[in-house]
Amino acid sequence: MNPSLESLASKAALCMACDLCHSRTNVVFGEGKQDATMMFVGEGPGKDEDLAGRPFVGRSGKLLEKLMVQETGFDRTEVYIANTVKCRPPNNRNPFPEEIASCEGFLKSQVALVDPKVIVALGAVASRALLGVTDGIGVMRTRVFDLQGRVLVPTYHPAAALRGGSGILAAMRADLAKARLLADA
Ligand code: URA
Repeated sequence: MNPSLESLASKAALCMACDLCHSRTNVVFGEGKQDATMMFVGEGPGKDEDLAGRPFVGRSGKLLEKLMVQETGFDRTEVYIANTVKCRPPNNRNPFPEEIASCEGFLKSQVALVDPKVIVALGAVASRALLGVTDGIGVMRTRVFDLQGRVLVPTYHPAAALRGGSGILAAMRADLAKARLLADA
């Protein structure tokens, strides 16, 4: 791992900045290619991720991997994957604003160190945290954003596609294909 990412991961492993530290099994820092062109940012670890210490290894992760390969041509070893918060919120509730704020430094540093050309924000929590806005994901995904010289593509969270059926899935596919075109531009 990039030495700076590695030291950041070691720091995160000891983090007690918010109450999520009390219920976590593992800190899920993030993983992937250290200088990836494309970075994916989710919401926060679920049960499987908390147990494994790795992002997107459960049902949502399997769907994300499939859509990623089919629509961007990258597999998960070729991108960088992180979450907005690094510790599992109890019962998979949305992270609270103060938890997102406590973790913001880690996410910002990951973005700066990986320095991807395109960031795919998965769902409203990640999109809002990265952009500092409060819009709904259905509105945000109709646009692409500039994030300090990088392109940010908001899309649905794979859990929404698992719940929401073919419309959400088709929209996610279109957004990921768009992200690939922007990465190649
Ligand atoms: N959902 C997320 O937002 N992140 C994960 O790592 C797993 C599920």
